[in-house]
Amino acid sequence: MEYTRLSDANIITAKYMDSILIKERLIDSVVADTKTEFFGENFDMPIFTPAFSHLGKYNGREFTGLEEYSVAAKNKNILNFVGMMENDMFSKIAATGAKTVRIVKPYADNGKVRDQMQYAERVGAFGIGMDIDHIFGNTGLDIVIGEQMAVQTTDMLASYIESSKLPFVVKGVLSADDAVKCAEIGAKAIIVSHHHGRLPYAVPPMMVLPEIKEALEGKDVKIIVDCGIGSGADVYKAIALGADAAAVGRSMLPSLEKEGVAGVEKFLQSVSDELRFIMSCTGFAKVSDIDDSCLYQYLT
Ligand SMILES: Cc1cc2nc3c(=O)[nH]c(=O)nc-3n(C[C@H](O)[C@H](O)[C@H](O)COP(=O)(O)O)c2cc1C
Repeated sequence: MEYTRLSDANIITAKYMDSILIKERLIDSVVADTKTEFFGENFDMPIFTPAFSHLGKYNGREFTGLEEYSVAAKNKNILNFVGMMENDMFSKIAATGAKTVRIVKPYADNGKVRDQMQYAERVGAFGIGMDIDHIFGNTGLDIVIGEQMAVQTTDMLASYIESSKLPFVVKGVLSADDAVKCAEIGAKAIIVSHHHGRLPYAVPPMMVLPEIKEALEGKDVKIIVDCGIGSGADVYKAIALGADAAAVGRSMLPSLEKEGVAGVEKFLQSVSDELRFIMSCTGFAKVSDIDDSCLYQYLT
């Protein structure tokens, strides 16, 4: 029989998430509330949009997919994220009025990094950050759509944080070591992620969450998790294992493509409704109450 190696981190992550089960705790439980405080703001759910880039206009519609999901984020009162883009595109995102964190690429052109961060602040971004997991590629330093990436040192990240009043989010943390460095330089949040499986055999974000949570105990750093999040059960498990919130990803794309703003709103609401159902069935009235006491794990 042929033996196939399982190097795809997306599959490993899905298998791990599916190995986590939930027990019920119904007596004395109430209908749960999904409201979430984050960076001093109240959001309706602990479910955020992904830092996406390069989404064009679907089906000849007026606005790009990036603008459409940003409008949906605003309407659903959740924190919005966007990724690699030029300033003219970010100005359109800012114009949607969504509370948006701009994740800037680790460009080798450091002037461009600083310009994009300063621009985001000028046009009213809610936060800024960087995806540090898109530095390396198989040829050394990665080239992303013609743009050269560069190594980012602790000092460089610290200087971005110092030069802005906005909360800074480090995206692509997958170890307690990096999480602690982020805390030391004053990052306000990290996104625990393997960037949809860039690294073969990457540990599932949820598997490494408990040790990251422990390493950040007592530090003022919020934890967001992404990769493979597409249901309320996924969000519940992420929070139970130590996250403050979770971001959906490619799971959002079919709704976005088919129905634009309305499709994303419906999708987000369905994820939130399932989260509330599971919280209610497990005796957690508030998001901040959720812990791992109702989780079981079995090996597949
Ligand atoms: C079309 C597309 C564009 C993306 N662009 C960026 C980006 O510019 N910056 C970034 O940090 N992550 C980017 N990502 C990664 C997502 O933010 C997120 O980490 C990932 O999709 C999570 O995995 P999932 O899709 O399995 O949920 C992109 C992903 C997709 C599918």
